[in-house]
Amino acid sequence: MTGSSPDGRPLPSPGGSGRQSGPQVTDVIVIGAGVAGLVTAVVLARQGIDTLVLERASRADVESRSRAGLLGPGAVEVLERHGLAEGLRAAGAPHRNCEFRHRRQAFVVEYAQYVDGRHHMVYPQQKLVADLVLAYLAAGGTIEFSVRDVTLDGLTSDRPTVAFVTANGEGRTAKSRFIAGCDGHHGVSRASIPWEALRCTQQYESPWAWLAVLAGVAPSTDKIIYGVSPQGFAGHMLRDHQTSRFYLQVEAGTDAAQWPADRIWEELQARLAVDEDWELAEGPLLEPPSVVAMDSAFYEPMRFGRLLLAGDASRRVPPAAAKGAGLAIADGETLGLAVAAALHDLDERPLDAYSDVCQRRAWLSQEASTKLLHMVHVEFSDPFAQRLQDVRLDRLRTSPAAAADFAEHYVSPV
Ligand code: APR
Repeated sequence: MTGSSPDGRPLPSPGGSGRQSGPQVTDVIVIGAGVAGLVTAVVLARQGIDTLVLERASRADVESRSRAGLLGPGAVEVLERHGLAEGLRAAGAPHRNCEFRHRRQAFVVEYAQYVDGRHHMVYPQQKLVADLVLAYLAAGGTIEFSVRDVTLDGLTSDRPTVAFVTANGEGRTAKSRFIAGCDGHHGVSRASIPWEALRCTQQYESPWAWLAVLAGVAPSTDKIIYGVSPQGFAGHMLRDHQTSRFYLQVEAGTDAAQWPADRIWEELQARLAVDEDWELAEGPLLEPPSVVAMDSAFYEPMRFGRLLLAGDASRRVPPAAAKGAGLAIADGETLGLAVAAALHDLDERPLDAYSDVCQRRAWLSQEASTKLLHMVHVEFSDPFAQRLQDVRLDRLRTSPAAAADFAEHYVSPV
């Protein structure tokens, strides 16, 4: 096995530091070791399919990058099916209800009770990534971390090729039967598809963005809080016992540098304030705040020749409703099984259906995110929209049918 040792350090290439004589040959090359790429890779490697994962970041980086923290029941089921949920079960926390705050009044939606107990798990994504790396290496897979200059070629041929430069500066080429493009929204995979072969359906210009803040402080709540106030939306999300994620609605195009810690805490205190005995604990910011755009984009089909896209490489969904990671995990399973059917049984029908299966899931998730955004984002200059928002939140508080509808969107399809 070439690539990384179990602790992630690059192993020497066969033949020492000299040039590689010919291209490495493998069944599948997976580009990107996020959740989409790693689930794809584990599913393939477990079926005895020779798989090479190429990741631009170092192992330490992918295992420490703070991303999402909430996994829906569909995503958890995928992980369970493949024996990948051990860490999640040991260290994750079940999440069954969430709180809305509106005009300083709080109400809780016990969403799990409307959907047969289906619920989320709180588990930081970087921990899941670490679990998946271990599972993949244990299945005999190969990962090259810290690669650069990845380029794809021959995508419509039987043997597509990927060229890359390894962590120690060696130029390599690998040939495979399929390439899984799992390298996120700004990766090289989607960019390698001729533009006329991809259809992009997107929402133009959201006026809102979220300022994302990660603080080294225990959460001041045991459930996610969606706060709607005259100053705008504020979210209090959960990560672990020492860390909390917060979001603040800001104008699209906001410069995060305009938000020093004092301003962030002042605004969170104001937007999450409630007429009851509750305090928001403050703590140090663990990373510079960033601005997350709320725009959405879907690229179809997710297949071009022998290249299959998965996860964020094929779409961008807003973080509201926490669907992105779940969709990436579900894509990974669908893709891994479809490629396995093509290689083992020479059955390409699952691959032909792959894009439609994933897109259906993704659009349903987009609908959940869109509805939640309309529920919580404040339209400052539109009193008409504000009155409708009052009605939506009031219905959610008082109508079991509205709560059941919210619950269904919140937990499905991932
Ligand atoms: N070459 C190799 N690797 C690359 C390249 C490249 N050119 N470009 C990006 N990558 C790597 C990134 O470093 C990252 O580790 O691809 C990986 C993509 O992982 P993610 O961005 O986590 O994407 P994905 O697996 O699709 O999961 C996306 O996770 O946090 C949630 O909601 C979020 O929707 C998002 C989901």
